Amino acid sequence: MSEFLDFAKYLSCPVVLVTAAHEGDRRIMVGTASYACLEPLVLATSIRHESHTGATIFNSGRFGLSVASLDQIDLVQRLGRSQAGTESGAAKATRPEAVFKEFGPTGTLYLADCLVAFDCKFAQSVACGPYTTIFGLVVDTVCGTGTRPLIRYDRSYGNFAATVSGDDSYPV
Ligand SMILES: Cc1cc2nc3c(=O)[nH]c(=O)nc-3n(C[C@H](O)[C@H](O)[C@H](O)COP(=O)(O)O)c2cc1C
Repeated sequence: MSEFLDFAKYLSCPVVLVTAAHEGDRRIMVGTASYACLEPLVLATSIRHESHTGATIFNSGRFGLSVASLDQIDLVQRLGRSQAGTESGAAKATRPEAVFKEFGPTGTLYLADCLVAFDCKFAQSVACGPYTTIFGLVVDTVCGTGTRPLIRYDRSYGNFAATVSGDDSYPV
């Protein structure tokens, strides 16, 4: 383990549910994501090489990024206990908490109770140590039923306690 992990944990991250499907096989994993480009909107997520979800993204050329809501904490906690490549995506997908929906035109999966979801078309990937960073061009978006984002910070989950308007030039 890197000696810098004690510092990396102070990078607050959105919790996302990465979803992918190929030939009837549905996959879901907890991860995080960030913008790679705003125009056009390209999102990036890093996935371990042994991840079943990652393999399904490479096979299908598509993936969903559901921004997790506070309402999904039980699902996130439960999914977060499994190691990459160790549990079948089918087992995860049949859990009662995971209510999947599909983007109409593409069939990409997302979670009904997320905050918002992005339908991503695989654009490119870059290997980085045990991870592959996957870049996805956003081709569709949808609002879920969730209302409050789920944030990861210092090995804990939380929400915004207070916000201050961003008085700056950044567009998002
Ligand atoms: C908060 C949190 C964030 C995570 N972020 C990542 C990540 O960015 N990349 C990754 O490969 N795994 C991440 N994981 C671990 C995966 O969710 C886990 O390895 C999962 O079992 C992979 O499933 P799969 O092999 O079925 O795809 C994270 C887990 C948690 C709890």
